[in-house]
Amino acid sequence: MFLNSLLALFSNDMGMDLGTANTLVYVKGQGIILFEPSVVAISKGTNKVLAVGNRAKEMLGRTPGHIMAIRPMRDGVIADFEITEQMLRSFITKVHHRRAWVHPRMVIAIPSGVTEVEKRAVVDSAERAGASEVYLVSEPMAAAIGSGLPIDEPAGNMIVDIGGGTTEVAVISLSGVVLSQTMRIGGDEMDEAIIQHLRRTYNLLVGERTAEEIKMRIGSGFPLEEELKMEAKGRDLVSGLPKTVTVSSEEVREALSEPVNAVVETVRDTLERTPPELSSDLVDRGIYLTGGGALLRGMDKLLASATDIPIHVTEDPLTTVVMGTGKILDELSVLKEVLISRHHFA
Ligand SMILES: Nc1ncnc2c1ncn2[C@@H]1O[C@H](COP(=O)(O)OP(=O)(O)O)[C@@H](O)[C@H]1O
Ligand SMILES: [Mg+2]
Repeated sequence: MFLNSLLALFSNDMGMDLGTANTLVYVKGQGIILFEPSVVAISKGTNKVLAVGNRAKEMLGRTPGHIMAIRPMRDGVIADFEITEQMLRSFITKVHHRRAWVHPRMVIAIPSGVTEVEKRAVVDSAERAGASEVYLVSEPMAAAIGSGLPIDEPAGNMIVDIGGGTTEVAVISLSGVVLSQTMRIGGDEMDEAIIQHLRRTYNLLVGERTAEEIKMRIGSGFPLEEELKMEAKGRDLVSGLPKTVTVSSEEVREALSEPVNAVVETVRDTLERTPPELSSDLVDRGIYLTGGGALLRGMDKLLASATDIPIHVTEDPLTTVVMGTGKILDELSVLKEVLISRHHFA
């Protein structure tokens, strides 16, 4: 008992957003101290982890034959428990400057579609990585708390979280998720749509990172006041040589329309299933848009025109969920009811 409280003194409780694209860690009293891609580079054959996070993402698409870069959380399912665990361990160790004896309490936000088995795997991984108590919270709930929404009131709030591998739409009232939908379409599919477009239109082969850069710089969901252009570099599929083409925001918007419209359809579908009292709340309060995909130009305008409901983009869409886990840590006793599962270190 004494040892436990002594350990608690030295431990830095942390909140984590275990996203399909990015992992963020918030430490009590310090703020967000880690923001890295959820990527692990492993050596084929031995399965040894070579790099995690930023260093591993740099290797994506640039790896020699014996190295493989993996995104264990991609598509919102924990594709590989062991690799997820190594990734968690590596991030936790980094946060604690390799003081392996620290046993933090952790609040981890996970996609709402994950199964019981996957939840168990996250809790086990976090414990084996050194956490003393692990609390799980669904991402939309963490996002709602992170955006400062009054989740405990008997009124409907809608969160739309467009991540890398998934988009989640949830209606929250009285500290509970009334209904939610998870769709395996997000920023990754947008990148893929740009790759396909460049291949078909220009015989130009570009990598995921280039496609993502094009999306961020000139991508959009709604006509821009001033349309944009940029140069895209890749390899000519015919000659095999490096090639540069100029792409316009109009053609990128057209290329993105399929994944973008799929997101819009999911939001409309969720609205149709929302109980009438709550949907009238949404008309007054608006819909909260978060996740990296909320940064796509005009995504808010497109959703507003498709739903006739005001759209609010959260203050910093990439950090909303982790800030929510931080708020939960600060008020663990008050907010316990929002946690979907908890587990104590025996
Ligand atoms: N400015 C931007 N415009 C469009 N998409 C963006 C922008 N910034 C980030 N993204 C995309 O957001 C996604 C990552 O969002 P994030 O919320 O971190 O995902 P996850 O929660 O699944 O880890 C990536 O697909 C990334 O390309
Ligand atoms: Mg997320």
